[in-house]
Amino acid sequence: MSRKSSVTIKFHNGEDIPLELHKVRVVQKLNLVPIERRLEALYEGGFNTFRLNTKDVFLDMLTDSGTNAMSDMQMSAMMHADDAYAGSQSFFRLQKAVEDVLKKKYFLPVHQGRAAENILSHAYIKKKGDLIPMNYHFTTALAHITQYGGRIVELLYDEAYNISSSHPFKGNLNVEKLEAVIKETGVENIPFIRMEASTNLIGGQPFSIQNMREVRKIADTHGLRIVLDASLLGENAYLILQREPEFAGSSMEEVISIMTGMADIVYFSARKLSSSRGGGICTSDRAIYLEMEALIPLFEGFLTYGGISVREIEAMAVGLYETLDETMICQSPQFIAYLVNTLTANGVPMVTPAGVLGAHVDAMQMCKHIPQTQYPAGSLTAAFFLTAGVRGMERGSISNQRDENGNETYADMELLRLAVPRRVFTLSQIKYVIDRMTWLYENRHLIGGLKFVYEPPVLRFFMGGLEPVSDWPQQLIAKFKKDFGDSL
Ligand SMILES: Cc1ncc(COP(=O)(O)O)c(C=O)c1O
Repeated sequence: MSRKSSVTIKFHNGEDIPLELHKVRVVQKLNLVPIERRLEALYEGGFNTFRLNTKDVFLDMLTDSGTNAMSDMQMSAMMHADDAYAGSQSFFRLQKAVEDVLKKKYFLPVHQGRAAENILSHAYIKKKGDLIPMNYHFTTALAHITQYGGRIVELLYDEAYNISSSHPFKGNLNVEKLEAVIKETGVENIPFIRMEASTNLIGGQPFSIQNMREVRKIADTHGLRIVLDASLLGENAYLILQREPEFAGSSMEEVISIMTGMADIVYFSARKLSSSRGGGICTSDRAIYLEMEALIPLFEGFLTYGGISVREIEAMAVGLYETLDETMICQSPQFIAYLVNTLTANGVPMVTPAGVLGAHVDAMQMCKHIPQTQYPAGSLTAAFFLTAGVRGMERGSISNQRDENGNETYADMELLRLAVPRRVFTLSQIKYVIDRMTWLYENRHLIGGLKFVYEPPVLRFFMGGLEPVSDWPQQLIAKFKKDFGDSL
């Protein structure tokens, strides 16, 4: 790791803890309901944390998507939104922000990230079997690509699958494999190469600029396009500042513009990138813009709102500029690093090095006794909600989809993701998470498996229903009561 964050603040007593560089001016009351109620909530929600009701959730670490704290500047921008079906001034302010921050001339608004994936798949996947090489899939990207008859191939280096690692760029796209895939498949069957910033499903792991340069070179040689999923671009850029020596003295703006400059098309979920709602696709190539333009009114809404409320468009514009502020963007990665490093020191198997968007617990390792057929990550996610009232997200085989023959495809990694949305939690809440997870690790033998009782055919992890294979939740409650007495 080449540079300490420019916003690291040292404590005289030597403690190494992240310091909040913001103050809290609007608060929301939280409840921690008793463990018996948490068990009822699990049964009501099919042991699937997506189906929980927030009245039963204490710390909501499901995702950072649409849950990052908005700044005062974003909130105030929402008040001068220009309500108009067409030609809204809010849109032009957003278009300017996209040009200033992402350095792309043409912008197509969409209602959220997956809508961009739908448009891109619709526009570019022309025949069954078209192949999209990528560093790693994201659930919705895969679902849209396959929906249009396409296939994907994931091209990571072996180190990326090494859960416990010190490699700074586990999200790098394997360029040797990329060359081989292009040769084997033929450029005519590859609509584009997809690079995902801060690769979500392998633990929020970044790729380096050096890697993207190599991918760009290969793309140029073969006349292929690069599509950058920029949903977590700010965090990837922040980690480049920290970890890629060439950029130790650069600014967020410089790194972001180098990254977007190497992509033909950039798309994003604004729920993540700009702490708002909405999403977008941008490019500096007019021909590319025209290939997608007509699809926006068809699927999303008129070209100057794309299914997003004008208030959110204003918040998105301000949020994009704020992405360039290192004191804002550093906050979540610093909290995550604290969470990951402390839990690792306590013996809990974590994905390392700490990435972005959340801390990831290695359920395959922690719940070795649960076979993958019984979903170790889903089981750990349910068990952690039961013991802590903390809602994480399963990122393992339940999040995978079945193959075309209906067979299970087991995930490379079984992870419990504990998302740390930007500027939402306090350090004592993070300490509570560490305390309860350490306790659960010490009692991990009590966690049992799950089985599906309701399985939707697409994106089953959202609404699927499961149940425990034994009375393990009751046993876990008994041990909790023994150790914590009447504590919530
Ligand atoms: C990397 C990545 N791409 C795409 C998406 C989809 O975005 P949305 O949830 O706004 O549809 C997400 C959402 O989490 C994501 O993390």
